[in-house]
Parts: sequence; C-alpha cells; structure tokens
Amino acid sequence: MAVREIVFIPDAVLHRKARKITEINQQTQVLIDDMIETLRVAPGVGLAAPQVGISERLIVVEYGDDEDEDAPLKLYVVINPEIIKTSTEMIKDVEACLSVPGMAGTVERYGAVVVKGLNRHGQPVRIKAEGWLARIFQHEIDHLDGIVFTDKAEKIWKLKDEEDYTDV
Ligand code: NI
Repeated sequence: MAVREIVFIPDAVLHRKARKITEINQQTQVLIDDMIETLRVAPGVGLAAPQVGISERLIVVEYGDDEDEDAPLKLYVVINPEIIKTSTEMIKDVEACLSVPGMAGTVERYGAVVVKGLNRHGQPVRIKAEGWLARIFQHEIDHLDGIVFTDKAEKIWKLKDEEDYTDV
C-alpha cells in the first residue's frame, strides 16, 4: 500500500465526471488499498478516486457512529456508487474537504440515503446511511460527478488554525 498525493481544486480531475469502472482488476485493488491508506494518513472520513487524480467511480468511506465516539470504525469501499433512495428531510451542516484545504462551508444534504454499488470483489452492495454517514456518501459521490462542496455550499469560510474539521 502507498499513500497517494491528494489533488486540490482547481485541478481539472476534480471538476469532471468520472468514468464507470467496467473491470475490477489488480490495478483497481492496488488503487483501493492506496486510497484506504491515503484516507487514514490524511486523516479523513471519505475519499473519492478523483481526489488522488484517478477519474474513476470509486469511493472509500471510513466512519464510526454519530452518537458514540468509541464505536469501531466501519470501512466501506464502493465501486460505481449510486444513490437510489433519499429521505425527504434535508439537513444543513458544515463540511470540509481534503481537496479544498483550509475551507469549510454549510451544505444542505439529504438526511438519509440508500447507496448501491459493488464491493471490491464485484459483489452488489446496498448501504443504508443516515446522519453524518449519509452526508459523507453524498459528498463523495458528488466528487465522482465533478462537484466539490464549495459548488453547493451556502456559506464558505476560511478555517482558523485552531478550528478542526474532519475532511471528506
Ligand atoms: Ni471531499
């Protein structure tokens, strides 16, 4: 495994639609492992392939529990992820992004989503996510469509040194 370099806006790869993965090969497995390591080193809670310069539809998310800080982290690797169901409820909250260093913004997202895609073995997965996990999935899937949070944020501001946000 290797830590890959994270690309920042306005790099073109972050502003274009990523291509669907049609074959899960050895190169895909290496990319997945590298993305997991890159996410952990960053550290962050979610990373999309375009953020390491690869224009492919692949995300990794590692997150625990909104309510319980000590809950074990759960790792999700989703190839060709799609949101197939959303709640009617929308929630506004603060986001930051590894590709937009030093900035934060308020973004409105669905309170809950159902995501479908493939795991790293090519098997179909379906994930019900709510709260922060739902937000992370929406943020990462946006990356695959060339959208960064600053494109839809209502308010954007520069983080002060002492402010600490988990990046996605
Ligand atoms: Ni991001």
